[in-house]
Amino acid sequence: MKLTIIGAGNVGATTAHIAALTGVARQIVLVDIVEGIPQGKALDIYESLPIMGRDCRVIGTNAYAETANSDIVVITAGVPRKPGMSRDDLLTTNAGIVKTCAEQSFAHSPNAFYIVVSNPLDVMTYLTLKVTGLPRTRVVGMAGILDTARFRTFIATELGVSVEDVSAFVLGGHGDSMVPLVRYTTVAGVPITQFLSPERIEALIQRTRDGGAEIVAYLKTGSAYYAPAAAVVQMIDAVVYDRKRILPCAVALEGEYGLSNVVCGVPVKLGRAGVEEILELELSEEERNALHRSAADVRRTIERLEELLHQKTAA
Ligand code: APR
Repeated sequence: MKLTIIGAGNVGATTAHIAALTGVARQIVLVDIVEGIPQGKALDIYESLPIMGRDCRVIGTNAYAETANSDIVVITAGVPRKPGMSRDDLLTTNAGIVKTCAEQSFAHSPNAFYIVVSNPLDVMTYLTLKVTGLPRTRVVGMAGILDTARFRTFIATELGVSVEDVSAFVLGGHGDSMVPLVRYTTVAGVPITQFLSPERIEALIQRTRDGGAEIVAYLKTGSAYYAPAAAVVQMIDAVVYDRKRILPCAVALEGEYGLSNVVCGVPVKLGRAGVEEILELELSEEERNALHRSAADVRRTIERLEELLHQKTAA
């Protein structure tokens, strides 16, 4: 299994580190535009492996030739948020970066499975689909697992129970209008409504929506990366080991949930073939409306992206 990670910043390098430690890849190639950064971080990770008892080749490079024939490509290149910024504020800068990275990596690894992490996530996934021309089964965005992990963390802390017993689902775009599904959120199979008041549930949902911003406010110079990287590795693991995991991921919708021409977070089955199935949960009218509102937010940003690309072509 050859894994390429584009962007050797916080998310990219941490993904490489966790992937090497968990043994999901035999070879990891870390790519960045800045000379020395991917080489230095890759060598450092590689040198940690004899101590950790793992055997995986990790290299850093500025050239895509070394990524050739990767099985999985993770795109994390781009700028992170600063306090006060929304993910959509990153659109102009990150669209140019992600377009180049997707073009270059696809030229060398046309058969890879692509995971997009750069923000605004849903729109960057849409862009990668467009640039590569790959089917939607092979290009997905990482967001739902992260948002769900945040929701699970807050619930487990509030109730003083193991996070392993908390199961949750967060749908929609990776933004302020994401849709945590209370009805499908359980503690050891029991709906959380039996443990928490509607007010407390609402407070935890709001904290989940603001989960990324909460970390940006602390860090001031960057955004979250440990939890995002762990989420990416869970997706890689599902594909590499053909686990058929049901995980919330950002995928292009073609009629599911009454939505088309948009990338949005929904539960999918991830296995060797990539997205092997898109699960259509039964939603209440209120949940469905919330999902449609979230998708409409993503679609507006996709329209801005199309304008940007059009301006670039015209110029
Ligand atoms: N090609 C390759 N790498 C690039 C390019 C490019 N064209 N442009 C920028 N990069 C690299 C930067 O040099 C940097 O090393 O992308 C890396 C980004 O790293 P960080 O600034 O640490 O950002 P990070 O926290 O990793 O977030 C990356 O993921 O979660 C999202 O919102 C976040 O969009 C951001 C992305």
